[in-house]
Amino acid sequence: MLEESRRSKLESRLKEVFSDYRELAGGKNYRYHHLRSSRKYAVKLIETVDEEVDEKAVEIAALFHDIGRSEDIKDGYLDPIKAHEGHAETGERIVEEHIGDLVGGKTPGKSKASDRKPSLGARINRRQNCPRL
Ligand SMILES: [Fe+2]
Repeated sequence: MLEESRRSKLESRLKEVFSDYRELAGGKNYRYHHLRSSRKYAVKLIETVDEEVDEKAVEIAALFHDIGRSEDIKDGYLDPIKAHEGHAETGERIVEEHIGDLVGGKTPGKSKASDRKPSLGARINRRQNCPRL
């Protein structure tokens, strides 16, 4: 499990990104609450799995799985149904830029590719042996 202080920092960054906007079905600041709920459910699911699981990776992935949608907020509104080309890549870039320092990725100030660890998304995909979608 993520330490309380680390989880709190990650959730604070989500709150900064997903505040002061509306969604059709979820209303005001829906995405922030959805992401926090997703993390809680992911933790409960982990408890039911009889295999070794990287709990921190699952928690972080659950918290940030919709971060790419933050760039779809226009004039205080997010359309959750609209198809978004390259949505996963957008999310991966945002995670690296905004929380890379909190999850072991890019360190602020280091911009050369040779200084960077593989992206969080790449590490999760590699760990889970997932195909790139
Ligand atoms: Fe979601």
